[in-house]
Amino acid sequence: MTAVDVVVMAAGKGTRMKSRTAKVLHRLGGRPLIQHVMDTAHALHARRTIVVTGHGADDVEGWLRASAQAAGQTVPDFVRQEPQLGTGHAVQQVVPVLPDDGIALILNGDVPLVRPETLQALVEKCGGQRLALLTIEMPDPTGYGRIVRSGDAVQAIVEHKDASHPQRAIREVYTGFMAVPSAKLKQWLARLSNDNAQKEYYLTDIVQFAVADGCEVVASPAQEAVEVEGVNSPLQLAQLERAFQMRQARALLESGVRLADPARFDVRGTLTCGRDVAIDVNCVFFGDVVLGDDVHIGANCVIGNARIASGAWIHPFTHIDGEQAGVTVGEGALIGPFARLRPGAQLGPEVHIGNFVEVKNSTLARGAKANHLAYLGDAEVGERVNYGAGSITANYDGANKNRTVIESDVHVGSNCVLVAPVTVARGGTIGAGSVVNRNTEPEMLTVARARQVSIANWVRPKKPAKK
Ligand code: UD1
Ligand code: CA
Repeated sequence: MTAVDVVVMAAGKGTRMKSRTAKVLHRLGGRPLIQHVMDTAHALHARRTIVVTGHGADDVEGWLRASAQAAGQTVPDFVRQEPQLGTGHAVQQVVPVLPDDGIALILNGDVPLVRPETLQALVEKCGGQRLALLTIEMPDPTGYGRIVRSGDAVQAIVEHKDASHPQRAIREVYTGFMAVPSAKLKQWLARLSNDNAQKEYYLTDIVQFAVADGCEVVASPAQEAVEVEGVNSPLQLAQLERAFQMRQARALLESGVRLADPARFDVRGTLTCGRDVAIDVNCVFFGDVVLGDDVHIGANCVIGNARIASGAWIHPFTHIDGEQAGVTVGEGALIGPFARLRPGAQLGPEVHIGNFVEVKNSTLARGAKANHLAYLGDAEVGERVNYGAGSITANYDGANKNRTVIESDVHVGSNCVLVAPVTVARGGTIGAGSVVNRNTEPEMLTVARARQVSIANWVRPKKPAKK
């Protein structure tokens, strides 16, 4: 097998995005466009990956370097193209670092949804001998390079701006992907000129040189249009995002997940589901999310970096973001509506977190409940604890974060402030409205607020009588 070296073209400006961000760093499914291309290249086990950068080069290279390092992969080679004189000129910059003995697989940094199988087939068509082009029939081929044939044999690619009237009627177009023997590619690149409508060095001109040299040119059709669609504008990005989300939704539906509406569903990362999972409309998942068997997700939830165990119900409008530390929700837990789980929230089985309750960096043991309007931060909460409405842990003294320990079977009344560091001992009850700043005794009632008094014969102030 001939080795494959991937060349990713990503130097173009992306003027139509009207953005300060380099085009290939705009996100699709939560990942930069170019990251999709890199992941596809990685799946092909390419020998080397060379990225041509130009516009926004520092940002693009910075992103790719960091993401390869984070994934434990080899950082790609970068080649700068300054100024950008066309796709042929872009590939010319790669010549010094491209080995002669391999197949060059040329990809576009702004065409994110091409599948590894499609590229693998293209590489096989090349076979280290032929020039293989990925093509597609388009209902409206405007703007694309046309595949010009004589009989069946491919003769040339003619760019739209250079095409004659009859050539413009050709609907078979070049998608921007090719696989070519590197040694031959180098010979042909040396012959490019910019004698055309756009005064650019066209990579596509190598097709004529291949034909002239008696090298076989094969056109390999792409299966789905969405695979070869590029992103040039915010509209195209949004359309491709929906196509990408539909692809993911379809795979989940086929695996048995019940999505209320695949058109109102977004995964910007990875979502792994057990059996009999049901997800209502307008949910967004990001980072890595794992849902166990029989998990129900209500409408309008945003959930990232979390593991939700079997039988848990996440009611509507719940926001969960585990960031680095992650969030875990135990079996049969009930969360929301309107709950917020932050990094390090670790909820055991049967835990209940109700509306307007925020939990951060806290462990709640089996059956603990905080049902209304509460905050638990840096806390350890025992089994069966009932944490009253409006109660909070005062975990931050302005400089340090301190821990609150609430042992099993404690009842914390409404509107309490637990001033950390503090321990509420097993089985204790805290009276409503208490400010607790010292450890309490087990099984006792602790009340820490002014005693209620009633003053007899007290006269309410009155407004002076009008004259
Ligand atoms: C190119 C093809 C056209 C094909 C179309 C498919 C050429 C001459 N034409 O046209 O046949 O139908 O793609 O989408 O190749 N780039 C650089 N440096 C440059 C110019 C471009 O790195 O100097 C990069 C861009 O960032 C982009 C890719 O090359 O990723 C394609 O460039 P673009 O200008 O979009 O080519 P098209 O005109 O669309
Ligand atoms: Ca393009």
